[in-house]
Amino acid sequence: MKIHCFLGPIPIDFFSMQKEILIETFTKKGDGAGRVVLEEGQLPSRVEIPHTMPQDRVIADLRKKRKRVVKGRLVEILTPSPFRVQAHCEHATMCGGCSWQCMEYREQLKEKERIIGTTFRDFFPQSELFPIIACDPCFHYRNKMEFSFSENRGGMRYLGLMIARAKRYVFNIHKCFLASFWFSDLLNATRKWWEESALSAYCPLENRGCLRTLTLREGKNTGEKMVILTLSHPEEILALEEKIESFVQMVVNTVGEGVSIFLRLHKAQAGEETVFEEKMLYGQDHIKEKLCLGHRELLFTISPSSFFQPNTLQAQKLFLRALEMVRPKPTDTLLDLYCGSGAVGMLFAPFVHKVIGIEENAHAVEDGRKNLLLNGIENFSIHEGDAGELLTRFRKDPQFTLPDIVVVDPPRGGLDALAIEQILLIKPKILLYISCNPATQIENIKSLQLHYRVAKIQPIDQFPHTPHIENIVLLERLSSKIDF
Ligand SMILES: C[S@@+](CC[C@H](N)C(=O)[O-])C[C@H]1O[C@@H](n2cnc3c(N)ncnc32)[C@H](O)[C@@H]1O
Repeated sequence: MKIHCFLGPIPIDFFSMQKEILIETFTKKGDGAGRVVLEEGQLPSRVEIPHTMPQDRVIADLRKKRKRVVKGRLVEILTPSPFRVQAHCEHATMCGGCSWQCMEYREQLKEKERIIGTTFRDFFPQSELFPIIACDPCFHYRNKMEFSFSENRGGMRYLGLMIARAKRYVFNIHKCFLASFWFSDLLNATRKWWEESALSAYCPLENRGCLRTLTLREGKNTGEKMVILTLSHPEEILALEEKIESFVQMVVNTVGEGVSIFLRLHKAQAGEETVFEEKMLYGQDHIKEKLCLGHRELLFTISPSSFFQPNTLQAQKLFLRALEMVRPKPTDTLLDLYCGSGAVGMLFAPFVHKVIGIEENAHAVEDGRKNLLLNGIENFSIHEGDAGELLTRFRKDPQFTLPDIVVVDPPRGGLDALAIEQILLIKPKILLYISCNPATQIENIKSLQLHYRVAKIQPIDQFPHTPHIENIVLLERLSSKIDF
């Protein structure tokens, strides 16, 4: 299989030696890890090898040691782990997209449960840990994927995903089982469209070139499709109007006329914040998605830059479980922090007195306000701004109702110090923390633990065949603590 990096071909001496290794455990990033003696008489070093799992005996190419850890690349499996299965996908042994595809799905779930157990229960032994909620079916679940364009100095072109643990290396994906197959069809058709042109791929190291990414989105419950071509230095393509026309034609021919197509222009200037400009090329300015939540259905407007939970099926389970865990009262006021286009707040709205949402992304706020109208929700207001900063302002307003319940669903980096400080000052009785990164979630919760007890923990598998875990934690306020 051909691979390449932006810097040119992989140097021949990139890997230094081959060794036989028994994989004993997983790293935090979900790679297999074992031990190896590099030189006679030395103590064994830890070696980490993507696409391996405990009980595999493998031959690996070993690279130089970094911070006492040796990085390896799988060459051959001598004895497979009893949990190893045949992958669906031809790219499974190198793709950074789903490095656990070769592990039995049941075993993946057990491993995720174990990680949540050791992360949380060791610190909060009184908490109640529920079994992980599985994803069924566990393929074709993603409603959004982003593929990168890349090119080497020899002129070889690539459009696909990154190789596991090799961030700058892109390889050509022909068929991906994480999303609907129209994603793969369009990926292949775009590569062909690109081959017939002189357009260059964007090179981040030299900040030159044009084509950056191809982002595909789908309403899983509505069938609506969106295609976004992201560019830097768009002059290159904008000068070729027929190239834009042929891109639109190629997309429509491949996925049908109902599609929405956008250009996203990435404008970065040294010392200034990066700006994205969107240009609609074809179809509607958004797609719709529907969430089926028990007896209710909620309709969502999704524009190119708005967040939407990446696994629609599991989002439905996640939200219903969140509602079950919180058990709101009709008199409660709920604060939906990092509310995106309003999914959590809209779910809770009929069961509480009022909902206040805060979201930083202007596109998501606009979508969220449309969603309120679309679903006839009148007791929910969405405010645009940084969570911590807006809360600081709101608290000074005598009209502001202190919320009884706060739901937070921040990005992977977790809550910042100001948001944590404000939540502590607001003193909600219940804090529900939804996270796609348990590592930052536990750190944030530790800084709340003087005032809150961890009552319930619910992991959900939103990302089968990857080591990523979605986790909900219900925190209850300790009423006897001295307030500050
Ligand atoms: C994981 S998403 C959750 C969205 C929503 N809860 C949902 O389920 O659809 C995180 C959201 O936080 C927003 N965000 C990121 N940083 C923020 C900040 N500092 N203040 C407010 N919102 C922020 C992002 O734009 C994104 O919409």
